[in-house]
Amino acid sequence: MEKANTKETHREIDIIDLKVAFGDFYALKGASFFANKREFLGIIGASGAGKTTVLRVLTGQIKPTEGQAFVGGYDVTKKSKLISLLVGYVPQLEHLSLYYDFNPLQNAQFFGRLFGMRPKEIEKRARDVLTILGFDEELITKRVDRLSGGERKRVSICLGMIHNPPVLLLDEPTTGLDAHLRHETLNYLKELNYELGTTMVIISHDLEVVDYCTRVCLLEEGNVSQFGTPEELISSLPGKGEGVRVALKTMTPEIIRRIESLPGVQYTAAAGRNAIKLFIDNPSEQILPIIQKLNEIKLPFEEVSLVEVDFFDYFAVKPWKANNGGIES
Ligand SMILES: Nc1ncnc2c1ncn2[C@@H]1O[C@H](COP(=O)(O)OP(=O)(O)OP(=O)(O)O)[C@@H](O)[C@H]1O
Ligand SMILES: [Mg+2]
Repeated sequence: MEKANTKETHREIDIIDLKVAFGDFYALKGASFFANKREFLGIIGASGAGKTTVLRVLTGQIKPTEGQAFVGGYDVTKKSKLISLLVGYVPQLEHLSLYYDFNPLQNAQFFGRLFGMRPKEIEKRARDVLTILGFDEELITKRVDRLSGGERKRVSICLGMIHNPPVLLLDEPTTGLDAHLRHETLNYLKELNYELGTTMVIISHDLEVVDYCTRVCLLEEGNVSQFGTPEELISSLPGKGEGVRVALKTMTPEIIRRIESLPGVQYTAAAGRNAIKLFIDNPSEQILPIIQKLNEIKLPFEEVSLVEVDFFDYFAVKPWKANNGGIES
């Protein structure tokens, strides 16, 4: 058995200057971030940013080119056997892990056996996890091919957790689900995190994941562009979570340009069809000067008000989202 003193870091997940090269191409270019025990870490980024590569390093499927990765205090390259017990993995596509002709309990038996668990132990564990995931006796014993998409996703999550790992890695568990099921799945993950104390690492394209996270890592072309708590990321913006919303009578590119060039405006984001949010320091003190300035330049507006900015605004102003029309910072 491993002794506590062989741990090399006190963090549950610790990634230090991680570089992963495929030939000449670096999918990760020196990423550093971490999660403590029981945290809910979101890794967010555009396609190709390097998200899955991080999980493949953490599960020992690929080795770092440079830098280090630790799970539960152990270097993933040195303790691969132990790491497979410490991490559960939920792949992006659940058909890769589920037997559709069998029910959730039978699926669990296949998985649990891989970890040398006894049938009784597997059944108890599966029932416990599936119950937290909202399954009743009927669903627990229903063939997987008759379950809904969200239910299948939850079975796949149960399989990832069958051996009671302290860390669960989930690759895009909400992709392909509708908005209702995405939130339902995230709520169930939060429930597992709370009830069992499992540290969650969840990869996503979807910004709504951020609301569930205790820490967020934004990956951008192999680099960490932001890392912190959701509150820290919001407060790193000018206005620290508040902004000024200007509702206009009409919006043209010329009007937007004139608003962007108002004094003190650092970023802008669209806020509906005829409104624009301004990121500006001390927004509450800027309302009157902005109204005066708009009057002075004879720009007709409906309303100027103080509003909250959230993550959707935050990403809208970030260059890595610029391909969907975001505004360069
Ligand atoms: N085995 C490999 N050989 C060569 N290049 C690879 C390999 N695996 C990944 N890459 C490249 O590394 C980059 C990061 O890949 P990765 O799968 O980590 O992206 P991702 O952020 O998970 O994207 P997505 O959201 O599309 O799943 C991509 O440009 C990809 O083409
Ligand atoms: Mg991926």
